[in-house]
Amino acid sequence: MRFSTALFGLLSALSVALASPVGFEKRATVEGFDISHYQSSVDFAGAYNAGLRFVLIKATEGTTYKDPAFSSHYNGATTAGFIRGGYHFARPSSSSGAVQASFFAKNGGGWSNDGRTLPGMLDLEGDCAGKSASAMVSWIQDFVETYLSETGRHCIIYTNRSWWQSCTGDSTAFSNTSPLHLASWNNSPGTIPGGWGYQTIWQYNDHSSWGGDSDRFNGDATQLRKLAMG
Ligand SMILES: *[C@@H]1O[C@H](CO)[C@@H](O)[C@H](O)[C@H]1NC(C)=O
Repeated sequence: MRFSTALFGLLSALSVALASPVGFEKRATVEGFDISHYQSSVDFAGAYNAGLRFVLIKATEGTTYKDPAFSSHYNGATTAGFIRGGYHFARPSSSSGAVQASFFAKNGGGWSNDGRTLPGMLDLEGDCAGKSASAMVSWIQDFVETYLSETGRHCIIYTNRSWWQSCTGDSTAFSNTSPLHLASWNNSPGTIPGGWGYQTIWQYNDHSSWGGDSDRFNGDATQLRKLAMG
């Protein structure tokens, strides 16, 4: 008994040592999810009790569309204690970045320094809207600058590596100012595009158990709060 316990202890110590090569330290992360009207009812209290701490909620798209579930999602997330923020689905072919940023800021994408509100997020996906890479970068710049002047924050940019490469030519114009929310439905974020040194949030699948997509903040709860505070 004593021998086998000791042997077991030795073996577990050995397997821990093997699984953690020297120099590798696992960083703390915070789980969250992102949702839109496709999720008609969300168990925010359940998600919070399961350990999730942030929610990204679709607010607007283009300059005419307001997500009909935004307010109920935002209120539900707030009541449950989440750090939360809105996101805007970009329609770069339909109007300027400036006009879309204002529409977003006025309809759910606003920011306040309350420690619970994330800067708004610009969702870039789909095709390249018929734009050249430099025209797309200008469109995004227009959005980012207008959002900054209306809210005081640089918006988060959501993209994936292939979209960013093909639609912006892998622009590094935003890597020092906008946090990156990287979609990569894999077991790791993979190569980070656009000169960002790391992703701030990783969307790692499109089927969170709480609805919508699963997101992981690349830092601990204190750093998440710091992102909210600006
Ligand atoms: C990246 O985003 C584009 C546009 O939304 C999508 O078509 C493509 O499948 C995505 N690529 C990967 C590898 O997920």
